[in-house]
Amino acid sequence: MATIKDVAKHAGVSTSTVSHALNKTRYVSTDIVERVMKAVEELNYAPSALARSLKLKNTRTFGMLVTTSANPFFAEVVKGVERRCYEQGYNLLLCNTEGDLDRLNFNIDMLLQKQVDGLLLMSDEIASQNLNIFSRHKPVPTVVMDCGETNFPCDKIQDNSRHGGYLATQYLINKGHRKIACISGPRDKQATSERFAGYIQAMNEAELEVDQDWHAFGDFECEGGKQAFESILATGKMPSAIFVCNDMMAMGVINTANKHGISVPEDLSIIGYDDISLAKFITPSLTTIHQPKFNLGRKAFDTLLDQIQSSRENNLEIHLEPTLVERDSVKTLN
Ligand code: RIB
Repeated sequence: MATIKDVAKHAGVSTSTVSHALNKTRYVSTDIVERVMKAVEELNYAPSALARSLKLKNTRTFGMLVTTSANPFFAEVVKGVERRCYEQGYNLLLCNTEGDLDRLNFNIDMLLQKQVDGLLLMSDEIASQNLNIFSRHKPVPTVVMDCGETNFPCDKIQDNSRHGGYLATQYLINKGHRKIACISGPRDKQATSERFAGYIQAMNEAELEVDQDWHAFGDFECEGGKQAFESILATGKMPSAIFVCNDMMAMGVINTANKHGISVPEDLSIIGYDDISLAKFITPSLTTIHQPKFNLGRKAFDTLLDQIQSSRENNLEIHLEPTLVERDSVKTLN
């Protein structure tokens, strides 16, 4: 079986050049990369990631936790992370928690036992349950995304959700709506309280009544949107517009409204949050608040790599600004 030394000899370069060419760990000129790849092919060389990790004491692997890949929001962020992993020669171990604390703890244990070089955490239970994920492990560089306060050292990347909630509600007000309901996310999520606070701020500034019957909690899934909307319908008081705090729930609301013979936006205007890629393909296409998901993924990867390579001691807190995307689900009232 060919070794890295055989490849180096065959290509006429050093073993470290072979390693850098294969792992993309340093710039290597194109013609040398081509010579190395030719030697790899001719000698049928298969590098051992395990041997490499033992020698260099890193795995070039990041672990990532998300709540659920079934929500395209998370899938689109992961796409950005994976793109950077590919560009930089890293592997990604992706785990879903589905909001289950046991599963979250199991996954963290597994990732740390596999000696990942760093963690990307996008699972809100960490903040809401005040978890110290490093209580039983030596800390590794970590970036927490889209989450609240944490009690362990990490960099943070946050959506400015309060501003997003404000933008969404203000847009409905500018379109002439006065009776505006809000379907928020799960009770213990920071995104829920922040987006709701933005809604309240815009309503208060416009001196509009915030009717308690027009606030319902959802679960950030289509089903939760459906149920929350049905609970608003059950009050017998119809708002003219609803700020729905994520697109998955907004899709559940639009679907349920159709079933009840309520036309969106003719009878009811809807604005969502996230701008998942499906949002522009549903009927009516969804007006929503855009989160830069792909860039959030890329930024999270780059921030983690910087934490590892620069060995800095200070932690960064990065805020991403949401923007409004105007489509067809909000009617202008006169
Ligand atoms: O769609 C999932 C939601 O949960 C997103 O809005 C994201 O910000 C998270 O908090």
